[in-house]
Amino acid sequence: MPRLVSIAAVLIAFLPASLAAQDAAAPSSRSAQAAPAVLARHGMVASQEKRASEIGVDILRRGGNAVDAAVAVGFALAVTLPRAGNLGGGGFMLVHLSRRHQSIAIDYRETAPAATTSDVFLDQNGEADPARSRDSGLGVGVPGTVAGLALAHRRYGSGRFTLAELIAPAIRLARAGVPVEDDLLDTLTLLGGRLVRWPSSARIFGHADGTPLTAGDQLMQVDLAETLEAIARQGPSAFYRGPIADKLVAGVRTAGGLMTREDLRDYRAVVRPPVHGRYRGRTILSMSPPSSGGVHLVEMLNILERFPLRSLGAGSPAALHLMIEAMKLAYADRAEYLGDSDMVNVPLTRLLSKRYAATLAAQIDPERARPARDIRPDSRALHDGANTTHFSVVDRFGNAVANTYSLNFNYGLGLVADGTGVLLNNTLDDFAAKPGAPNAFGLVGSAANAPGPRKRPLSSMTPAIVLARGRPVLVTGAPGGSRIITSVLQVIVNTIDFAQPVAEAVAAPRVHHQWMPDHVVVEPGLASATSEALRRRGHDVRIGPAAGSANSIAVTPAGLVGAADARVRGGLAAGY
Ligand code: DON
Repeated sequence: MPRLVSIAAVLIAFLPASLAAQDAAAPSSRSAQAAPAVLARHGMVASQEKRASEIGVDILRRGGNAVDAAVAVGFALAVTLPRAGNLGGGGFMLVHLSRRHQSIAIDYRETAPAATTSDVFLDQNGEADPARSRDSGLGVGVPGTVAGLALAHRRYGSGRFTLAELIAPAIRLARAGVPVEDDLLDTLTLLGGRLVRWPSSARIFGHADGTPLTAGDQLMQVDLAETLEAIARQGPSAFYRGPIADKLVAGVRTAGGLMTREDLRDYRAVVRPPVHGRYRGRTILSMSPPSSGGVHLVEMLNILERFPLRSLGAGSPAALHLMIEAMKLAYADRAEYLGDSDMVNVPLTRLLSKRYAATLAAQIDPERARPARDIRPDSRALHDGANTTHFSVVDRFGNAVANTYSLNFNYGLGLVADGTGVLLNNTLDDFAAKPGAPNAFGLVGSAANAPGPRKRPLSSMTPAIVLARGRPVLVTGAPGGSRIITSVLQVIVNTIDFAQPVAEAVAAPRVHHQWMPDHVVVEPGLASATSEALRRRGHDVRIGPAAGSANSIAVTPAGLVGAADARVRGGLAAGY
């Protein structure tokens, strides 16, 4: 049994039966081992799949900017990392443009179809029915990736490459096939069943006898190549209108969904101002709603700024305790206030203010864990799993891109819309099916994140760029559902407070608390003495997958340092 699979199997053993049955768990937490640091002078791409990273570097080398490279990587991962790279999902791209001293956030999150009602995920008794949001066409959001990548290219690319040129490497790989190895092998071994239950997916991801592809096989994606070719020829409208759109709609509707041609036709990616924060003299840029990522990243940093983390020491129980307490406070706010800010009022100014953070920090006892129910009364079960992917790009002009995108679960719904090669997401499970009903990540929400027509479900994706004196010094982000925001928090704190080199900052064992359920998940690599010290402070410590693959780049006086997170196999930081 490959090592990763055995570790994932152990981790799954820690998860509740409901999750194991749902088989959404990602092999996302290999024990922490140093991500190999890669040094380069001009440009760097760190992604979860090596071919995609190399494609991005090639674009940089040929004079493209970070956005050009990110677009090429985004299309390539849809072919080479189909569990999370996608055309049929959505995400967020954070861009810092050095010459304009401008930062923008491209929101290409999926939207709910216009026919979505607030009770869409409830059964006849009015209870949340996870099968509807996770395993049927009702959970499929209108995909945003093609619109988002095309917008990024059009508005922020260098102008040296056509969209077709950036898509070309992905087309080649889809036609030539990619070997089933590394993460593709690991995830098909564990989760292939989610795919092959759909005949249209089994034809691509399975053998003739219906079993998933395995070691030694090639993944051939001819339909996906044709879809990509159509986008290369005609632009994003080839995806959102006409025969491909019709097939996407047919795929969703055969699985019981409500999506229409009009929903696809009307989809728009949106450019938003990023969330801005300040932390120990650095500027923190991250994603604004409909992601909760940036808001709570900054909220937690604002709280932590009031404590001397550095003198407490990296990985020390005292520092981890403070981080865990900050996590609880932020995730309680998330559950209460966050939703699509185009549709509901989100009190951003307050949540991001230093003054508010000071009142929260004052509630933290440095010696004692505060029971989550005292922060707000509630109690939920832990869920977990699924996948997303993050990549970081820096170019020689000083531009930076942090991009996180997803199908929600690994391989999304698992359903390929027949004839398109496009795997469909199940992202609408990120809505709160009803107030207090946990989503697949155990996250609860209020009416602010209720399903609604054309609404974007609340996300945790947290692409982030840290600036010092106006220039990027760290580009980071992560997958991991609810664990994304806390992963990014720890990479940033490790870098700023503990002055760790980026590879070390990424590899360090992480902890995660999301307010409810009231326990802290620690990665297996955390020293048992540290776990014991946390228990003595009153924490309910569980060992499990607390982190995702945070492929990051640091800009240092010595050059660009890239770190592909070694928690999954097959990632690569590549530069020139
Ligand atoms: O947007 C979100 O927060 C989720 N749909 C992300 C899912 C995810 O990260 C799964 N990764 N392990």
